[in-house]
Amino acid sequence: MDNSIKKIGIMTGGGDCPGLNAVIRAVTTTAINKYGLEVVGIKNGYRGLYLGESQLVPLTIDSVEGIIGKGGTILYNSNKDNLFKYPRRNKDGLVKDENGKIIYDDLSDVAVNNLKINGIDALVIVGGDGTLTSGRDYSNKGVKVIGVPKTIDNDLNSTDVTFGFDTAVNRCVDAIECLKTTGEAHHRVMILEVMGRDAGHIALNTAIAAGADVALIPEIRYDIANVVERVKVSLRSAKQFSVVVVAEGAPTPSGAAAVGITTEFAPDGYKYKGVSDAVAKEIETRINGDRDDNGYAISETIMDVEARATVIGHISRGGSPSSADRILCTRYGSYAVDALMNGKNKHMVALKQGELTAVPLNEVIPTSDIHSNFRPVDPNGELVKLARTMGIYVGE
Ligand code: F6P
Repeated sequence: MDNSIKKIGIMTGGGDCPGLNAVIRAVTTTAINKYGLEVVGIKNGYRGLYLGESQLVPLTIDSVEGIIGKGGTILYNSNKDNLFKYPRRNKDGLVKDENGKIIYDDLSDVAVNNLKINGIDALVIVGGDGTLTSGRDYSNKGVKVIGVPKTIDNDLNSTDVTFGFDTAVNRCVDAIECLKTTGEAHHRVMILEVMGRDAGHIALNTAIAAGADVALIPEIRYDIANVVERVKVSLRSAKQFSVVVVAEGAPTPSGAAAVGITTEFAPDGYKYKGVSDAVAKEIETRINGDRDDNGYAISETIMDVEARATVIGHISRGGSPSSADRILCTRYGSYAVDALMNGKNKHMVALKQGELTAVPLNEVIPTSDIHSNFRPVDPNGELVKLARTMGIYVGE
């Protein structure tokens, strides 16, 4: 037992994610009830760690009461505040050198000092790969750190599941149940673009759970002609409509890289959105361009085919977490404090084959690349095979 820990800090970093508050509650409750510790919340992620005292808020049993079902985070997030590589600013914005390159400073010592000044002996860092990369770097500087794996994308290799994923899939499945209403009434092709960045876990799981016809994911190449054939089968079947799930990171119908923008607001410089429009257009063009002798694209009830894309975006990670995520977050949060108190202070909590465990942060993020422990969908995995058995076109 690490008796030198008397006061712990907790912070949330990266994008918001369902279950963050449930983790905050579990950490606070365990720390106080089981170990008699003092708990302080650090607001606004690593920016709060840099700003220090003004961003600290005491957490008590009372203050975390009732937050388990609340979306977002009572501590707020900052998405790309890496204090080890912090862009210098002045009144004109970002400061650049003579070659036009942004100048970065290492401000991490300010944060370490703030922890000392405020008597915080250990940190619980709740975040995804970017946030945990800094967590690893603080632990290598001697700060006692335990990480909790957060991301709706479920693409972190060191754990079987990240929290937020279950809620996101549930939201996407609910959305498809709504889209089916219009699909059925108008005999349309309804396309849902889901989040997940470069991983197709959300798309694949959503497609299976919603009984979709097609799932397009970044990990598996697809032929748009096969997508169209699969969609036609559903339009000609008794249900007379079709549902397609597209991961935001999937390639375009022409095989080009995913649609998105480069932006300084993303930790790795880019964001995805919009591939589903290209998929919808291609489906429409191909089906309506190949009519029968009567001029019907499909049948006398579906003379023309309309394909409509919906982007669920942040709705999939907003709102109340699912029961499964609430339980997972409570397990993760409580175990994080146990692990810290048992000396696992350079680790991240994880779930492996149903068992809670702690994985060294240096294994969680092994290199300087924040995506170095990325877990894509296994193209030969059981879920892809299951999807195909269920008649879902998943590409290739
Ligand atoms: O990593 C979680 C995630 O929701 C991704 O699925 C998505 O691509 C990204 O974050 C969006 O981030 P932001 O809210 O910063 O645009």
